Amino acid sequence: MILLNKTTKFLYDDKSNHRLSWLVSGITASVYGLWAMFVFPGFRKVPWRLKVPYLPSSTTQTDNVINLLRGRKGKLVDLGSGDGRLVFGAAPLGFQCTGYELNPILITWAKTKALLLGISHNQATFVKKNFWEVDLSQYNNVTAFLAPGVMETLEDKLIAELRDDARVIVCRFPCPRWIPTCSEGVGLDQVWAYDIMHLKKSFLPKKKHY
Ligand SMILES: C[S@@+](CC[C@H](N)C(=O)[O-])C[C@H]1O[C@@H](n2cnc3c(N)ncnc32)[C@H](O)[C@@H]1O
Repeated sequence: MILLNKTTKFLYDDKSNHRLSWLVSGITASVYGLWAMFVFPGFRKVPWRLKVPYLPSSTTQTDNVINLLRGRKGKLVDLGSGDGRLVFGAAPLGFQCTGYELNPILITWAKTKALLLGISHNQATFVKKNFWEVDLSQYNNVTAFLAPGVMETLEDKLIAELRDDARVIVCRFPCPRWIPTCSEGVGLDQVWAYDIMHLKKSFLPKKKHY
């Protein structure tokens, strides 16, 4: 009798465990699906090693970028512009800003915000495009908040395309082989500025970057 009870309990537990693990897997898959839909739409053609998820800059990080842009002018590009916050921070300084972003939800949000803030098309433009496929030679200011895994590839692209008077400002993850001109902030909000003129003297680009 005791044996029977134990077996029945064991069978019952095994079935409910099975059901529970299906439920957990189902919930995990749905949550991941929703997350991927929001974070990675439009990314089908981007290789896995270059996929960068959306994570907004903090206010301090944005302020740090703005401080390293002071005194400069001309054209600015934000690589992976998200909801446009770096562009909206830079536009009032007089830059002609362009944000490249693959996520259609974020592009729509940034464009709507520009309209609501009364920011003209000349001050801020948002383009739904893979920035790895954009020739960046017309920009003399580049901002990027990306991921550690793409920074070396980014270095190769930028050094090959940018003019000598260009400045690159990266957030949170420094360029691994470049020596910064200056830096602002600490910890997760730290940003680094690199002047192409200084780098070109010491850094030889590789031909292929993508
Ligand atoms: C870490 S978030 C930074 C967003 C914004 N710049 C900010 O500072 O709040 C990186 C953004 O880059 C976008 N992104 C990643 N790879 C891209 C690519 N190849 N072309 C265009 N946008 C890209 C992502 O969708 C994401 O919105």
